[in-house]
Amino acid sequence: MERTKIVDFFKHLDKLEMGGTVSVKGWVRTKRGNNAVAFIALNDGSIVHSLQIVVDPSKFDEALLKKITTGSCLHVTGKLVESQGKGQTVEVQAETIELYGTADPEAYPLQKKGHSLEFLREIAYLRPRTNYFGCVLRLRHAMAFAIHNYFNSHGYVYLHTPLITGSDAEGAGAMFSVTTLDLNNIPKTPEGKVDYSKDFFGKPTNLTVSGQLEGELGALALGAIYTFGPTFRAENSNTPRHLAEFWMIEPEIAFYDINDNMDLAEDFLKYLINYALENNYDDLKFLNDMFDKELIERMKFVLQSDFVRLAYTEAIDILQKSGQKFEFKVEWGVDLQSEHERYLVEKHFKRPVILTDYPKEIKAFYMKQNDDGKTVRAMDVLFPGIGEIIGGSEREADYDKLMKRVEELHIPEKDVWWYLDTRRFGSAPHSGFGLGFERLLLFITGMTNIRDVIPFPRTPQNAEF
Ligand code: 4AD
Ligand code: MG
Repeated sequence: MERTKIVDFFKHLDKLEMGGTVSVKGWVRTKRGNNAVAFIALNDGSIVHSLQIVVDPSKFDEALLKKITTGSCLHVTGKLVESQGKGQTVEVQAETIELYGTADPEAYPLQKKGHSLEFLREIAYLRPRTNYFGCVLRLRHAMAFAIHNYFNSHGYVYLHTPLITGSDAEGAGAMFSVTTLDLNNIPKTPEGKVDYSKDFFGKPTNLTVSGQLEGELGALALGAIYTFGPTFRAENSNTPRHLAEFWMIEPEIAFYDINDNMDLAEDFLKYLINYALENNYDDLKFLNDMFDKELIERMKFVLQSDFVRLAYTEAIDILQKSGQKFEFKVEWGVDLQSEHERYLVEKHFKRPVILTDYPKEIKAFYMKQNDDGKTVRAMDVLFPGIGEIIGGSEREADYDKLMKRVEELHIPEKDVWWYLDTRRFGSAPHSGFGLGFERLLLFITGMTNIRDVIPFPRTPQNAEF
């Protein structure tokens, strides 16, 4: 008999026949009951809810029933009936039970309910079996799908930029080296330096910190592209918002100025929030009720608000006049810390803020220079509870101005000559940004630690599974 997914008992009951026989497969969340009747909550990951299986113990082998414990995996066939109990509309009266896999209660780490998120992180290989992480993973999938949907329907080309790069031009963060040299026996040049000519690529290479530079090449040929892939940063920053391996979405669009770029960022984020509300309400409701009572309210609120657009210089002024005690001092020229960003968003404006026109010293070399000689056309989108969720800019399209910046920052021309060439051959105004996928998921799931929205977090001293 064909297996029915548990989601169908909650969403597509019209397709099922009451009183008919069904076949279900899944993992036991709980088993309770007495000698007269037992109730098994069965979950198969297709929805956050579990299906109630009602068992008459007199009809089954006692030894078999004993082996059915939290975490074990079952195949049940039985009769679909209206539920007597509260909390579900239908249940299944078991007729046959096949035990696929046991889970020894003495050894199974998820035997008890209500583990802390910290503990679950330590057993990340089993986290997907919990209701909360199931919600996170379904939302993660939904957001990935919605991102492709958005760009596809707006005529963007999905461009695959390399993960292994030969340049360290972006300066976005410390990089991981990629090498096949024997670290115990490193070939040296006569000057005593590492002889990279013997390495796999014949030169030093790293894992990418961003696909942007290659993305720009695509935009200046195809008009509008986006990337969506893993990025790597080796900063030793053990914060709730940083991962060493995270996913980034980077649209890049020819003929867009910074205002078009901001419009796109706002429209894109609102599309994603709306998509989650419309398609994953069960998951959001569960996370809302269990972890963050304001999650759904906050999402709806952001959907309705116009994002504030404000220049960095004005933001500094607001922060200085706020009378707020900050750990990091605020003065013109400093890079804003998340405490500053969150003050602006959560206390002052009480809605998302797009900050623009940052000092050029704290931003990347490729950003379009303003006429004041001091600031660049950067734009960071700041979100409640998170701080920076998007970083982007209009790009410097003028070869001479870009070259000047490259020289000032001592960026080796041999690393970026191919990028500079885009400004020599058919240069055009263009803009783009990077959305941190896990930062987005912090907002969408209400989780407060970035390790809780990625299946296998990579952070300093942590790459077990
Ligand atoms: O602001 P960032 O460094 O910008 C860039 O990399 C540009 N090349 C993007 C572009 O213009 N195409 O990073 C972009 C976003 C941040 O706003 C943040 O959401 C996320 O990536 N991010 C991280 N997320 C998790 N862990 C980290 N270590 C992150 N670093 C950045
Ligand atoms: Mg940034």
